[in-house]
Amino acid sequence: MRDESQGIDDGIYRDAPLAIRALTPNFGAEVVGATGIVGNPAWLSKVLNQLWFQYGILLFRDLDFDEAAEVAFSQMFGELEIHGRQDFNSKTHPQLLYVTNRRDLDLPADALSNDDLEWHTDQTYLPRPALGSLLFAIEVPADGGNTYWADAAAAYDRLPGEVKQRICGLKAVHDHGKVTADYGLKADEFQRRRSARIESHPIVRTHPITLRKSLYLAPTVVTHIEGLPAAESDALLTELTAAITSPDLVYQHKWRPGDAVLWDNARVLHRRDRFPADQIRFMRRTTIRPPAEISIPF
Ligand code: OGA
Ligand code: MN
Repeated sequence: MRDESQGIDDGIYRDAPLAIRALTPNFGAEVVGATGIVGNPAWLSKVLNQLWFQYGILLFRDLDFDEAAEVAFSQMFGELEIHGRQDFNSKTHPQLLYVTNRRDLDLPADALSNDDLEWHTDQTYLPRPALGSLLFAIEVPADGGNTYWADAAAAYDRLPGEVKQRICGLKAVHDHGKVTADYGLKADEFQRRRSARIESHPIVRTHPITLRKSLYLAPTVVTHIEGLPAAESDALLTELTAAITSPDLVYQHKWRPGDAVLWDNARVLHRRDRFPADQIRFMRRTTIRPPAEISIPF
């Protein structure tokens, strides 16, 4: 039965174990009710996987994950990756990457700290970039530290035809060295070796599951567009980044403890605001790999 006791339609259907609430008119949905479902049954995995690609980002609230539960929940979405910054990973559950300014966890001092993090999508510097990331908030600052996602598939759809023509077949160069230099990160030996090869990926990517086209750029690591004079490459990157991050294609999230956001790295970009250095932000992330057979080509 639909609960109409309050006489208003708040967009939530209470006659099913799960419900969704749109986060923006274009993309993103909160999944309501997932907290109460125990044991990650196969039907739940099926529904959530479909919603993940339909909406690009999924928000879950009021979760009470310990590390094992976070890993098990994430495994509904595919094979988990051990992140290349092994020194940021949980010692007991290495599939979990700590994203925090906490200094009592035996992490390197350059762990993402409290600074702004520019627009990007994860791991584009690898030949087989992550398809998903799931970020879980345990402790959040009172001020700042919001995360933003932008819908690069919608941005592609509404580009003028002549821009689509112009960028068709172009590739951007993704260099992990750019982000380590810009953010003063000391990539450890393993990460350096893993990301040593400089990748180039098409600017227009076809999504491996939805087959929808999307812009695919990560300003944190993209140095230039192959084969274009520097000035033209810079201007095009600026123009395309502006198209993706147009305010009407962006969802801003103010975190509450217990929130988890799963996103589709093949479709959305994300960035983070700085927050005061004397406030603690403690997040854990899992990273979901695409099945090998659909990773390439894109
Ligand atoms: C990430 C990331 C942003 C944030 O974990 O990939 O970009 O808000 N995090 O911490
Ligand atoms: Mn990221």
